[in-house]
Formats: sequence, C-alpha cells, structure tokens
Amino acid sequence: MKITAFNGSPRRKSGNTNVMVTAFLEGAEAAGAEVENIFLADKEINHCKACYHCLSSGGKCSIDDDMGDLMSKFVASDIVVLATPLYVFNVSGMMKVFMDRSICIGSPGYEKGEDGEYQSRPSKHFKNGIPPKFIVIASATRPDRSNFQALSLLMKKAAKGWLTDLAAEIYATEGELLTAGVKELEPIINGYKELLHKAGREIVKDMKFSDETQKLLEQNFIPADIYVQRFNAKIDMFLAGSQNK
Ligand SMILES: Cc1cc2nc3c(=O)[nH]c(=O)nc-3n(C[C@H](O)[C@H](O)[C@H](O)COP(=O)(O)O)c2cc1C
Repeated sequence: MKITAFNGSPRRKSGNTNVMVTAFLEGAEAAGAEVENIFLADKEINHCKACYHCLSSGGKCSIDDDMGDLMSKFVASDIVVLATPLYVFNVSGMMKVFMDRSICIGSPGYEKGEDGEYQSRPSKHFKNGIPPKFIVIASATRPDRSNFQALSLLMKKAAKGWLTDLAAEIYATEGELLTAGVKELEPIINGYKELLHKAGREIVKDMKFSDETQKLLEQNFIPADIYVQRFNAKIDMFLAGSQNK
C-alpha cells in the first residue's frame, strides 16, 4: 500500500500539522505501507488558469511546474493524505491551489450516480482505474471542534467528486500545543502521537479507525477554558512586549 501525504502548511516540517502527519505515517509504515511526506511549500505550484488545456491533452496541464510530478504521485497512491492547517475554517490557500490544479487528472463530463446526483465520469488516470482513498489531517488554534465543520464538508465533497471515499478525518483543536514545547503537557502530546501511530496502523490493516481510536482522536488536549486562559495570557504578554519596543 502506498500512502502519500501532501501538506499545505507554510511551516512545513516545523508545523503542528506535520507533527500529526509524521506520527500517522510512522504508524502506517510500521504496518507495512510505503509512505511519502510532501510539503507543498517546497514545490512550485501556480494557480489554475482555467484554460482547460488538460481536457484536450489527456490530462496534461499547460503550466510547466511541479504539479505534473505531484499528480504522478497522487494517481499512484492507494491513500492520499490531504494535510492542512485550518485557515479561515478551510484548507490553507496553498492546499486549495493544489486541489484546484488536480482537476487535470479528472474526467470531463458527468453521469448520474446511484444517489441520483450527477457525478464525474470515472477518470482513466488512476492505478488500475481506482482513485486513492482520501484522509484529511488538520490542526487549528481554536479549541472548539465545530471549527472543522466546513473543512469536513469540503473534504467529503472533494472525495465524492473524485468518486472515492473520505476514509478518515483527523482534526486537532488546540493545535498550537503540538509544537509549543510545554514541559508539563509532554505526556499528553506524546500520548496523542502514540494514538496517531495506532491510527496509521489501523488504516493500513482495516482502512478505518476503531471506534476507540476515533473517540480518542476527537478529544481536546486540555479543557478548553484552561487552554484559552493560557493562550490569551501568552498573546497578551506578546502584545505587551511589542508595545514596549
Ligand atoms: C491565515 C491564518 C488563518 C487561520 N485561521 C484559523 C481558523 O480559522 N481557525 C483556527 O482555529 N485557527 C486558525 N489559524 C491557526 C492555524 O490553523 C493553527 O495555528 C495551525 O495549527 C497551524 O498549523 P501549522 O503549524 O501546521 O501551519 C489560522 C492561522 C493563519 C496563519
């Protein structure tokens, strides 16, 4: 099984999202998957020009940048992890441009699906004609899980658009704690990484999380009111410092 993660954080390796992706991929690799972790920020990815050259060229985009190589990895994967920081309740701009550009490997035209809705016709670009399953991994600063509602809906629609499944969703609220290096929270953060490792193993084995893993993944690291108190104190200290400069 080949799993490719595309990470849309400008912070790349040092970001909160990457803490999640790394632990998840390590688990998947331990269970036998071949994994790759790609940072979109390291790549040249230009905006889609809507020229539809891809329609008449068998999926070849008119823009000569890194997307051709990234799409080769995309179609050769069994699972694609779309990893992103939550930006204005959505994917980062970088991830959105990547998703826009991926239409070049789609299939033009629609047909009626089993649910009565019109859907894309199957694309010929995928390995054995089967699109990769999607997994979304995202981190956010805010403590409420409802902040991921729009992203979750977007990812479900995107997966459906590709005639595939959103096999799993992993959302971390209070995401800044993942890289904050707070000594007393180390056991909690390490426990979360172990949980992500387990989630990676489960996906390779069953293509889904156990109920227990799913439930644990939906917990905040610390109670929201304590988190906000600490977060605001840090922000206020930072603001006071910048005013004294
Ligand atoms: C432009 C921008 C928009 C953001 N929007 C949100 C948001 O809507 N909700 C939220 O909880 N956090 C928001 N954040 C915070 C990031 O989602 C959070 O810090 C995330 O963990 C960063 O992940 P990274 O370190 O992998 O980049 C935003 C940050 C930036 C820079």
